[in-house]
Amino acid sequence: MVQDASHNSMHTPRFSPRMAELGTEGAFEVLARARALEAQGRRIVHLEIGEPDFETAPHIVEAAVKALHDGFTHYGPTAGLPPVRAAIAATVSRTRGLDISPDTVIVTPGGKPVIYYTILATCDAGDEVLIPDPSYPIYESVVRYVGAKPVSIPLEFDRGFRFDPEALRERVTPRTRLIILNSPHNPTGGVLTPSDLQAVADIAIRHNLWVLSDEIYSRIIYDDGAGGRAHHSIASIPGMLERTVILDGFSKAFAMTGWRLGYGIVPAPLLPHLVRLQVNVNSCTASFVQMAGIAALNGPQKGVDVMVAEFDARRQLVVAGLNAIDGVECRDPGGAFYAFPRIDVPGRTSKEVADSLLAEEGVAILAGTAFGEYGENFLRLSFANSRAEIAEGLARIRHGIERLRKH
Ligand SMILES: Cc1ncc(COP(=O)(O)O)c(C=O)c1O
Repeated sequence: MVQDASHNSMHTPRFSPRMAELGTEGAFEVLARARALEAQGRRIVHLEIGEPDFETAPHIVEAAVKALHDGFTHYGPTAGLPPVRAAIAATVSRTRGLDISPDTVIVTPGGKPVIYYTILATCDAGDEVLIPDPSYPIYESVVRYVGAKPVSIPLEFDRGFRFDPEALRERVTPRTRLIILNSPHNPTGGVLTPSDLQAVADIAIRHNLWVLSDEIYSRIIYDDGAGGRAHHSIASIPGMLERTVILDGFSKAFAMTGWRLGYGIVPAPLLPHLVRLQVNVNSCTASFVQMAGIAALNGPQKGVDVMVAEFDARRQLVVAGLNAIDGVECRDPGGAFYAFPRIDVPGRTSKEVADSLLAEEGVAILAGTAFGEYGENFLRLSFANSRAEIAEGLARIRHGIERLRKH
């Protein structure tokens, strides 16, 4: 929160009070603090930021360079370049068992704008949005920014960080407009099962609600809860495609965070509103970057498989290492590249524990409460770092937790 947004000094022109409602992303804050410590000469282990430590595959880089030479240096249509929308529609149709029209695709600079656009286009002051808690903090931030009310659905450790559909049902009111889902889930690694999705779909259809299904980690699944590695989308359930915005993109699957390339699959009546928001903010997504997206989707996928296999090996290292620490309990994440251990450090909040681990031990991780109040007593580690760094990070965490539990 920006605490002093409405408090203006004599010389500064007035800020909008609305700015006080806008939150931020803890990972970027902790990264900045970690970098400041490094600038003082400290050696920091980075387990805070959610970005693959792999390089973008060479064939994708080459496609971008070729597109630059071919003149993809101009504005394009706001919703995206036609061949890019077609490639995305074909991929999502194949992976979700749907028949997606390219006309329902919006190409965006990263997946993140789809969150902003969808909430702005569907929610008003006083409306309510159901959001799993903990969750990616941008959902709550944007909901508050439009004057709507975030309503938490607690995620349960003992259910593999899935929510109880009954808890969702109980929270629906006449003001509910939107349900936000994220599977595989940041920060817990939880994966929703087909029966969870069916229960949410029944509620959304009965109460005529929109659903924002954030599927940015759809390619990074280790265990779907049924012994496989399948990605299930709520949009695949009959009656849901017309009320669901699918968010997906290239950042995580193809190690392309810095390229800023993502997309939404948007119900036809809602799409023009998202396009209008995009024309007001970005005009369009960088044209040569979009062309590289075609190479990512249609080119060799081996790099994705190699990356996911490496994440899986690290996942096992992280979970075993955390469970070997007294006062720490960690479940196997089913997807994404995060571990979300429960910690028992009497007398300390998870924020105090995370701050101490950075300041005293030099390991950058996030407090569970950076993702919502139900994140208290949890930490979030990203295992998008090398096995050697993870091993060093785990040793530092063990040392820090042992120290804090003694005092
Ligand atoms: C759950 C979730 N949604 C969306 C995003 C945004 O992704 P992008 O970098 O493509 O904007 C992230 C990035 O961390 C995320 O964790």
